[in-house]
Amino acid sequence: MPDGDAAPWWKTAVFYQVYPRSFALADLGARRARLDQLGGLAGAAPGAVRDSAGDLEGIRQRLDYLAWVGIDAIWLSPFQPSPMVDFGYDIADFCDVDPLFGTLDDFDCLLADAHARNLRVIIDLVANHTSDQHPWFVDARSSRTAALRNWYIWRDGRGPDRATPPNNWTRAFGKGPAWTYDEATKQWYLHLFMPEQPDLNWSNPEVVEAMTAVIRFWLDRGVDGFRLDVVHGLGKDPELPDVPAERAALPYCVQNDHPSTHGILRELRKVVDAYPHHPVLVGEVFLLTARQIAAYYGADDELHLAFNFPAMGCDFDAACIRRRTDEATRVFGEVNAWPAWVLSNHDQPRLRTRYGGSERRARAAAFLLLGWRGTAFLYAGEELGTEDAEIPPEQTVDPGGRDGCRAPIPWDPTPNHGWELDSQPAWLPWPPQASVRNAETLSHDPASILALYRRLLAARKASPALTLGDLELLATPESVVAFRREWEGDVRVVVVGFGKEECAVELEAPQGGWVVEVATGGEEGLAGEGTAYLGRIGPEEALLLKPGR
Ligand code: GLC
Repeated sequence: MPDGDAAPWWKTAVFYQVYPRSFALADLGARRARLDQLGGLAGAAPGAVRDSAGDLEGIRQRLDYLAWVGIDAIWLSPFQPSPMVDFGYDIADFCDVDPLFGTLDDFDCLLADAHARNLRVIIDLVANHTSDQHPWFVDARSSRTAALRNWYIWRDGRGPDRATPPNNWTRAFGKGPAWTYDEATKQWYLHLFMPEQPDLNWSNPEVVEAMTAVIRFWLDRGVDGFRLDVVHGLGKDPELPDVPAERAALPYCVQNDHPSTHGILRELRKVVDAYPHHPVLVGEVFLLTARQIAAYYGADDELHLAFNFPAMGCDFDAACIRRRTDEATRVFGEVNAWPAWVLSNHDQPRLRTRYGGSERRARAAAFLLLGWRGTAFLYAGEELGTEDAEIPPEQTVDPGGRDGCRAPIPWDPTPNHGWELDSQPAWLPWPPQASVRNAETLSHDPASILALYRRLLAARKASPALTLGDLELLATPESVVAFRREWEGDVRVVVVGFGKEECAVELEAPQGGWVVEVATGGEEGLAGEGTAYLGRIGPEEALLLKPGR
């Protein structure tokens, strides 16, 4: 796509995260044929979990919807061959498609059809670890002298009989050490996540070379970049020291922050920068502060973007949101890094659920996500105001307790909600009110949250202030957050009311006053779109204002 002096595409883009298992199922027959041919799916979870997951064809068939919603790019969570212990984040072959989801040809079709609609596609790169079924690990654990032994992290145990793990790091998902003892070779291997997800040894240049080949494999096929899973985990302190006892119970994956990762990222950045289509590297740096996250942009020679997670930790609370907005403006500004915002994903309860279940609040949050300075990442279903599904204990499948936010997307009001389920149940329960809260029903309702998202996305696309502008927090009453965005003469103001009462919010007005461009309530509510701003905001209302003429 043309480039010139324009801002890089990923700065102005709104990304939409697709979790393939939960997005759409369109070709169950082809799946069954693939699986029959392979004699089933090795190691895969049984029953509905396998049979009624979404597929790549399902995603392809929904591209027109995504273009209609107004997003610019898709991030696909993993679809590569996997035993699915972590639902795809345990990859057994980085350069193929799991037969559950389709084939490489299906992927190529999806990519071509997305590009034909001006939608870019980035994919997950799960580089910190592989599945224990990956041939690399199968070789590594075969003997102490195996060719790929040193591609993973092996240590002797501590104590007289070496029966104690090499250090006190704990793993994510379930309690326990980040180490598993391998009986055959009598050493421990490191895994920041499940025992079935052994960590790669990125201090070994052969690993860097192998993963570089993976990156090239997908870039050569035309993908527009990667979301790098737990990227701050890649480099490890070679001493593998204990953490202080008071932090030992905290999974080590949220603590690892070793300087060697930055060198690795500079190498990976060079690899992607050599491609003329400007692929992007978006990092999941799951560390606790914006300052730690910002360090992973390097001097514009590491990640292009890193999710600013602290904002996800706020309730629907003006003080917290104001603090996070201010902090991001300062911290990312200081190192000239472009923020990346996310309020929901496949690992956390959805924002509406976190905010107490209210659709008003979910609507207001859309103004933050799409109004903040930076690249926005929207999780599939947010545009429908989806809440987490209730998961009865017998239907729980995820070891990390994240099933609720992974409920399948309801496409229409029919009992199977647009999924080709045959007589199978969906792989997880539907989210609440799926017979009315589905894409088709909401698409016919101009007052729906889906219609609101479309108006906001269109307004954002049309405004240089919203896509590129600086952000200035404005002085407001405590229960309100308001900020001004400005770029080359274009100006917008976002006002979000968090209170239960109507509230006066005086704003310094341009000559023609402020006009409400988008409002949470559409034409209803306190402020109607296209009318003059009256200097007040309703309970849990949000407004996008533009100068009147
Ligand atoms: C990341 C993913 C999460 C996965 C974990 C291990 O945090 O977002 O879903 O379980 O990494 O790969």
